[in-house]
Amino acid sequence: MAKPRVFVTRIIPEKGLEMIHQVADAEVWQEETPPPYELLLAKAQEVAGLVTLLTDRVDAHLIETAGKQLRVISQMAVGYDNIDVAAATARGIPVGHTPGVLTDTTADFAFALLLAAARRIVEGVAYVRRGRWQTWGPTLLMGSDVHQATLGLVGFGRIGQAMARRAAGFEMRVLFHDPSTPPAVARRLNAEAVTLDDLLREADFVSLHVPLTEATHHLIGARELELMRPSAILINTARGSVVDPHALYQALSTGEIAYAALDVTEPEPIEPDDPLLDLNNCIVVPHIASSSRATRTKMATMAAANLAAGLQGEPLPHLVNPEVL
Ligand code: DGY
Repeated sequence: MAKPRVFVTRIIPEKGLEMIHQVADAEVWQEETPPPYELLLAKAQEVAGLVTLLTDRVDAHLIETAGKQLRVISQMAVGYDNIDVAAATARGIPVGHTPGVLTDTTADFAFALLLAAARRIVEGVAYVRRGRWQTWGPTLLMGSDVHQATLGLVGFGRIGQAMARRAAGFEMRVLFHDPSTPPAVARRLNAEAVTLDDLLREADFVSLHVPLTEATHHLIGARELELMRPSAILINTARGSVVDPHALYQALSTGEIAYAALDVTEPEPIEPDDPLLDLNNCIVVPHIASSSRATRTKMATMAAANLAAGLQGEPLPHLVNPEVL
């Protein structure tokens, strides 16, 4: 029997691709950049499964106009704000994602950004590379201590909690804002639940770990940045649009906050002439928090397993929209 056709929107780690080829007749987009929307739209008319990334716009129009043969959308990411899940649910199409496997890898990276910003590592590297290092300097590139400082976690799900575990090693005080967290979880991690405003006022480091939704779009804007300490450092490994980039530029360039370290931006990728890139107190990296070889491989095999289940009409191991069952 012929295998069902699927479209994979980028070359994903090999193990995942091997699993996909075992169960499907797969076309894999070979470019480094995402396939154009129009092409994805056309593929949705033809294939039984789509393997997507967070860079693919899978909106209501695409889902509503997809052919009846489309049985599953499998996203290789934990976040799925690029997919109109309600539209997929209305069409009875299961949507898969890859939760859990990237928690520690992402938290490692968020903590690395926190340390890099606090201790001005990127500036130090640039200083040496430019040949400016002449002697040991008593006030050279003085940064902020991380140990025993206060960490504010906006969002206390899997990754936020993994940050709290790392913070314990640095004897940090941990505050979090996440009304859905059971008190027992907070007690176990020695973390204090506070309002968002109190967190912003008190934290030396504010790290964002919320999904992008209507409620979290520009959650950190001018008012919130103004509440933060002038010495505060903002870390974003969640989604770029959780922060208002214009307000952030203002806050960084006027000294309202001290530093920002961003793995994610709005827009993404950031424009090369974005003013944030001219600031010495802003680090921007290209959305790589989950990018360890092991984790990206696990994400790919998980996406393949979700795809295989969807093609066979079985429940997806990691299903975003259980309402379709
Ligand atoms: C995700 O899986 O949502 C991450 O942002 C990818 O790094």
